[in-house]
Amino acid sequence: MALYLKAAEILEKVEQKRGAVKTLVYDSKFPNIKQLFALVCETQKYSSVLQEIINSTKLLKETKLRIHLAKVLVYDLLIGHGVKCGGAWKTTMLKHRARLQAALARIKIKRKVSRNQDLLPSSIQQTQNDVIPRYVRVNTLKTSLEDVIDYLKREGFSYQGTPGRLEDLDRLSGKMFLCDLHLKDLLVFSGKTDFHDHFLYKAGHIILQGKASCLPAFLLNPPVGSHVIDACAAPGNKTSHLAAIMKNKGKLFAFDLDAKRLSTMSTLLLRAGVTCHKLANQDFLKVDPQNSEYKEVKYILLDPSCSGSGMVCLRDELPETQEDGRLQALAAFQLHCLNHALQFPQLERIVYSTCSIHSQENEEVVTACLQRNPGFRLVHLLPDWPERGHEPLTQCLRASTAKTRTHGFFVAMLERRPAQSDKETPPLNTPLSSASQEKQDKPQSNPSDEEQENMETSNEQPANPSSKKKRKRNRKKHKKQES
Ligand SMILES: C[S@@+](CC[C@H](N)C(=O)[O-])C[C@H]1O[C@@H](n2cnc3c(N)ncnc32)[C@H](O)[C@@H]1O
Repeated sequence: MALYLKAAEILEKVEQKRGAVKTLVYDSKFPNIKQLFALVCETQKYSSVLQEIINSTKLLKETKLRIHLAKVLVYDLLIGHGVKCGGAWKTTMLKHRARLQAALARIKIKRKVSRNQDLLPSSIQQTQNDVIPRYVRVNTLKTSLEDVIDYLKREGFSYQGTPGRLEDLDRLSGKMFLCDLHLKDLLVFSGKTDFHDHFLYKAGHIILQGKASCLPAFLLNPPVGSHVIDACAAPGNKTSHLAAIMKNKGKLFAFDLDAKRLSTMSTLLLRAGVTCHKLANQDFLKVDPQNSEYKEVKYILLDPSCSGSGMVCLRDELPETQEDGRLQALAAFQLHCLNHALQFPQLERIVYSTCSIHSQENEEVVTACLQRNPGFRLVHLLPDWPERGHEPLTQCLRASTAKTRTHGFFVAMLERRPAQSDKETPPLNTPLSSASQEKQDKPQSNPSDEEQENMETSNEQPANPSSKKKRKRNRKKHKKQES
């Protein structure tokens, strides 16, 4: 019941352009965010068809249901997985099921289509056709890739090895599965495969995590025993991935502002067998980089709140003016977080990621950060990855359904420029070619005085004056080193 009420409430706000689906769903504090998100998105996609069915059957008059509630219930009855609640609504829906089914059938005949998805508006069908496979990360804290593959084979799944090309993923159907092209410990299934009720998922042996979302921890690749910060961590899939890479050894400080999301995260980490973490319900921007607790932190994963525009659902854009303001505010927050993260004195590498497709939240944030922090430079990530950051930040990665069969995503890695005496740094999961290394050393991350001055006087969040002076001194020092 609560699911349908909440979904109806959000759907109404979305249709009145009072917010974006993702934000409204997260703000709802509903216990099963994924289920709610999927129901709202799917109902919204089919909204015009559902309206037609409801009108033609006079459902509102017959049942006294309100339109948005009727839409979510009819969606689940006819197109989704069946009405999940009990009680009066289920009885009502079952009473009208035959008439509703007949109305749907009539619409299909009229439009000469046989499948429900062919009823969707063409703009949505376009996105629907870009099917994203189901990715499953093997949790190496609890099991191994080989054991999971064997287990699934014994259950009748058909293992197809590692694909030669991206297009091989489009041929996955039924119980077929593959190893991922780029990421070890990641398995790929047909998009329709559902593991939510599977033993391996419930026991924390597998994590249902999209491929793009696995990139940040994989690329950061903190060594076993290291000290790492996950700055905006909840609900914690990337935290558990980091812990797996660190083999649960070392220290993993995870911060998040949202207490509810943190409590979900605790459950998730427990199930995943993560033990090297320290969770804090804290604003990352208020975490003091000089605190001795963090003196050994060399790696940071920063995956801050973003517009979520890369999530393949409905592109629920706000009106342009509101959208612009929202992006500006998000970008300012993201830049503030990134600048703050670079203040940790021993930091060597940081991965910055968003599930946004807007360059305002991606390349522009990274560029502004590099201008302000010339002691850091970009790392050229995964040379074989098919989609790069927008020019000139081609060292960064982008992801999309069309080019990588994932949600839209952006990842950048910044590393501290080595001091004159070259230090040993642990291996990257991303080989550096000498050409790309040269590219990194070019002025894009080494701004002119004028650019630096502009940054100093920009409208950014207030910096504390003593650290401002320190940064100025650092920049002078770096300039000297480079000349
Ligand atoms: C994109 S989500 C992080 C997803 C997470 N990395 C994962 O993979 O599961 C962004 C998170 O940042 C948190 N957040 C927003 N502002 C924050 C702040 N100032 N300090 C810490 N966390 C913050 C939000 O509550 C939200 O949980």
